[in-house]
Amino acid sequence: MSTKALITGTGHFVPPKVVTNFDLEKKMDTSDEWIRQRSGIVERRYVEPGVGSSDLAYEAALRAIEAAKIDKSEIDFIIAATLSPDHYFPGIGVIVQAKLGLSGIGALDVRNQCTGFIYALSVAEQYIKTHTFKKILLVAAEVQSANLDYSDEGRDMAVLFGDGGGAVILEPNEKNDGRGILSTHLFSDGRYVSDLWMEKPSPKDNPTFAEEFFKKRRFFPEMNGRNVFKNASEKMPEAVRIALKHNGLSIEDVDYLIPHQANDRISLMVARNLKIPVEKVIRNIDRFGNTTAASIPIAMDEALKGRIIKDGDIVVLTAFGSGYTWGSAVIQF
Ligand code: UT7
Repeated sequence: MSTKALITGTGHFVPPKVVTNFDLEKKMDTSDEWIRQRSGIVERRYVEPGVGSSDLAYEAALRAIEAAKIDKSEIDFIIAATLSPDHYFPGIGVIVQAKLGLSGIGALDVRNQCTGFIYALSVAEQYIKTHTFKKILLVAAEVQSANLDYSDEGRDMAVLFGDGGGAVILEPNEKNDGRGILSTHLFSDGRYVSDLWMEKPSPKDNPTFAEEFFKKRRFFPEMNGRNVFKNASEKMPEAVRIALKHNGLSIEDVDYLIPHQANDRISLMVARNLKIPVEKVIRNIDRFGNTTAASIPIAMDEALKGRIIKDGDIVVLTAFGSGYTWGSAVIQF
């Protein structure tokens, strides 16, 4: 049996500031009732100005390192997933590295939006299986609140997203007892880039930051909500079925499903489609909104620390988002 990549520690960090639906009602034409009914979100967390995704990733990383019972100096590679890096460039991998005082080791940035954690997990899995690295830190973090359109025009997007960070430590399962990441499956369809994107700023424009784009409010994320909803509801179950088939598992073998927390209605539709009891679906979007790449590791950490997921459990992850990108992972804890 080949060596599997085991998640040996998890952590998450969300900023302390709670923003309720009622707070958003004061900024735009929306209502607590609409947001709850259409998305299941009750509140989300926002950072204070000056806090970036690297700060949330760093805090989550410290917690994952502690949970894995390792010294941070043992980490030999970093992978960071975010769509909201502190800067246009470089990515946050090197910034997290510097905050941890780990100069010299490689730091890779993954840009796969809501599916970022699953893509990053897949990369980490390959490095561990091939004995390239022994202790990989994977961080996923987002600061969405700083660049949402809080006018009525942007209300479809603005009410959904929140800030937060999650982290995991991956190591080879030296015991070779079969536990670890059993599979990852990654998919994309670039024909739908403009269904969910932040088109500008773009170096295709010269100058990139032209005044007219500010005036036309072009520097905000945009979404074709209905298309994204429909595709997310279809593609996540499809990715899970492919993963289960690959592993010779049935849906009854799955102890928990952790879907990307995009919209609670999507998570419930995925559950219904897969015929998995809703009690087996980890859901925390009511408290955090959609934290994009961070949503799965935050939910995973809560479920592990809350002793919902236990040793030996089979857990399936699935995500869908901008790109489009989507995927699944099967893990035995
Ligand atoms: O991680 C992946 C990222 N994104 C997602 O997964 C999101 C996927 N999409 C969705 O979750 C849903 O499409 C939304 C929650 C964004 C919207 O829900 P919907 O049930 O598809 O609503 P809709 O777009 O069909 O809009 C219904 C109405 C519209 O008004 P009219 O045209 O019927 O008068 C919207 O203008 O709701 C209006 N609306 C709002 N009303 C109050 C849109 N946003 C809001 C809002 N508050 N925040």
